[in-house]
Amino acid sequence: MAKDEKGRDERNFFVKPDYLINFDTRQLPQEYWDYVIVGSGIAGLYTAHIAGSMGKKVVVITKQAVDHSNTDKAQGGIAAALGTSDSPQLHFKDTLVAGAGLCDESAVKILVNEGPDRVRDLIEIGARFDRKGGELALTKEGAHSRRRILHASGDATGAEIQRVLTHRMREDKNILVLENHLAVDLLVHEGVCHGILVYDRNTGKLTVFRGASVILSTGGLGMLYEHNTNPEVATGDGIAIAYRAGAEVMDMEFIQFHPTVLSLPGAPRFLISEAVRGEGAYLRNRYGERFMTRHHDLAELAPRSVVVRAILAELASTASEKVFLDLSHMSPDLVGERFPTIGKTCAKYGLDITRDPIPVAPAAHYMMGGVKTNLSGETSIRGLYACGETSCPGVHGANRLASNSLLDGLVFGYRIVECVKKYKLGHQKKKEEFACDRLKPDAAPYKKIRAELRTVMNQYVGPVRTDQGLKKALDFFGRHEWLKHVEAPGSEDMEVRNMLDVGGLIAESALMRTESRGGHYRLDYPESQDRWQKHIILKK
Ligand code: SIN
Repeated sequence: MAKDEKGRDERNFFVKPDYLINFDTRQLPQEYWDYVIVGSGIAGLYTAHIAGSMGKKVVVITKQAVDHSNTDKAQGGIAAALGTSDSPQLHFKDTLVAGAGLCDESAVKILVNEGPDRVRDLIEIGARFDRKGGELALTKEGAHSRRRILHASGDATGAEIQRVLTHRMREDKNILVLENHLAVDLLVHEGVCHGILVYDRNTGKLTVFRGASVILSTGGLGMLYEHNTNPEVATGDGIAIAYRAGAEVMDMEFIQFHPTVLSLPGAPRFLISEAVRGEGAYLRNRYGERFMTRHHDLAELAPRSVVVRAILAELASTASEKVFLDLSHMSPDLVGERFPTIGKTCAKYGLDITRDPIPVAPAAHYMMGGVKTNLSGETSIRGLYACGETSCPGVHGANRLASNSLLDGLVFGYRIVECVKKYKLGHQKKKEEFACDRLKPDAAPYKKIRAELRTVMNQYVGPVRTDQGLKKALDFFGRHEWLKHVEAPGSEDMEVRNMLDVGGLIAESALMRTESRGGHYRLDYPESQDRWQKHIILKK
């Protein structure tokens, strides 16, 4: 079909072969907002709060209820150099060491220097962190040289942050939240983001949300793995949507596995916070031996990726499927006060955590990579921003320091609003129309594909990887490449399509990186190599 000089076809709209569904923006309802924010964890809600309090009109699109987020499940806490014996410099150093040579130092400086102010903002708007004698109570976690983790209700820090930000958002007349709304695809032309196509799960209708700024903060992608700590919404949607639209993604091979996730038949993969080890718990193997002292000077508080690999080595050498967290030497009062949620959950399965060893094993927890951004959250597409786990400003390198993720969401969410303010971006974009009507929907067995995908990721793209396994994974993703177009918008199919896109990116990057570093471990290349002290950036 003939195209004009701007790439429009003769029907005068842009046709890009990679949308998930057929649509024509000229026939759809269209809304205009200053900020269109996708996702309702800490990054999305805090950005909405900052923009809303400046009088900007903000819509928050979220695919289930507002509080279905990784933030809500976060236990351990939020790291910030607020203690008297602490400093941003020490926090900087610890973050870099955990990041295994791949952190962007400028991004980390911003995180540790601006973090304390952002946490104070949270306190100002009502976040109730635990206190001891009037002072903030700070705990320790792996690879932190100081006690610098704020927590709330013992081990329910994320729920407190989610509560206060949700409350704030509901109070702010400038912010509208749309639950049960699924972001489908970005509308991008000539490197500029014009808006996003959104599917309303309640009505089955599509709407175009045009915004001066579109912000992706959809969280992580733990659901790509059979064993994970994430809520079911974590299917990597933001990364997939951005990649399909032509944005750069970075560090996709670096998935963080959490060392201690409850491993009991019939029980959910429930996180047993790193703060438990921070307060003194030991890891023991099936013979009751404390093994971390053999693996690292920091023993149970070594960087997360080190602890995971030590556990895997221990499981292999003892022919076991779990190791145990032992709190029995700790004061029962301290355990009760600090870990009420963990205590209650374990009690449901007959475990008294003050006495009984807790069976644990590693599970997928956090994505270090994501949509590549600069220090202001800008992606490679103009008008498109990303923050939180969806984004990759380079702050976590190859392995995130514990409790830096909530902080990352706050700091870079705030910087997005500062950046947008600087540009004074109004609705100045020329209104372009977009459509897709050419591709035949694929009636595919998406449920089955989803289950297969999760098995493939667990088997071949887990904490230990090989050339052979990664090629098998890529073969799986290659076989499903033809699945470009979903039949039922809004259904699980769309998520599966996103999972296929993102899983393929992880496997591809992991195959490329022929070394081991941080969260990426190759059995066939077990050492880190200087020549690999660089990032893998993928772009469609
Ligand atoms: C935890 O509580 O162990 C999780 C905290 C984190 O992922 O940083």
